[in-house]
Amino acid sequence: MRALTEVRDEPMTADGLVLRRPRPTDAALVHRGSHDPLVREFLQAVVPHLDTAAAARWLDEIPPMLWETGRAAYFALEDAATAEPVGWAELVNLDPERECAEVAVWLLPEHRRLRTAKAALRLVCRFGFERIGLCRVEAFAAADNMPSQLTGAAIGFRRAGYRPALFRSSRTHRLHDAVHATLVPEDLC
Ligand SMILES: CC(C)(COP(=O)(O)OP(=O)(O)OC[C@H]1O[C@@H](n2cnc3c(N)ncnc32)[C@H](O)[C@@H]1OP(=O)(O)O)[C@@H](O)C(=O)NCCC(=O)NCCS
Repeated sequence: MRALTEVRDEPMTADGLVLRRPRPTDAALVHRGSHDPLVREFLQAVVPHLDTAAAARWLDEIPPMLWETGRAAYFALEDAATAEPVGWAELVNLDPERECAEVAVWLLPEHRRLRTAKAALRLVCRFGFERIGLCRVEAFAAADNMPSQLTGAAIGFRRAGYRPALFRSSRTHRLHDAVHATLVPEDLC
């Protein structure tokens, strides 16, 4: 596994989607995402940005810092044809000893239910395997988040366990049980 600072970070494109490092001009995307009820329900520690200026400041500072320190790889997802941002992907909890990381993806509401999620998840997992050299990508989806679990299963994630009360909703602060799933490069489809 390579350190993030050694990784080729140019955009990766497939299935009409581009995965690229985020920039301050993604402020509207990040502002909307951080206020979206499903993103806030199913991802941990989502702090809603006050406005797009606050989101731009966060983008300027936090994703580059996390990349430089090897803690997380954050990405914007955009439509390859229109260059319109459609969502977000991240590889977090990068573990150099176990050569694995945890993945999360969200899409803006108008880009859901269009099969874009599979392409997005596949692309970020490919980045993890091909560019970072991960041996395994882990996913923890809330037990009641069927779209997330089905998207993972569709691209090759295998169920690895059930984790009661694993994480707290950013929206309601209630505890979610989670389904743990694992993807290895040979299974990616
Ligand atoms: C998770 C997310 C990226 C999935 O994207 P999506 O566009 O909604 O997913 P899809 O429409 O491709 O649906 C995936 C599968 O779930 C099914 N599905 C969609 N909504 C469903 C629902 N409410 N109940 C049951 N199944 C559902 C779809 O039919 C599809 O299955 P199929 O391929 O067998 O037909 C998107 O819903 C999202 O951004 N959610 C908010 C953030 C989030 O939960 N992220 C994941 C954190 S781990």
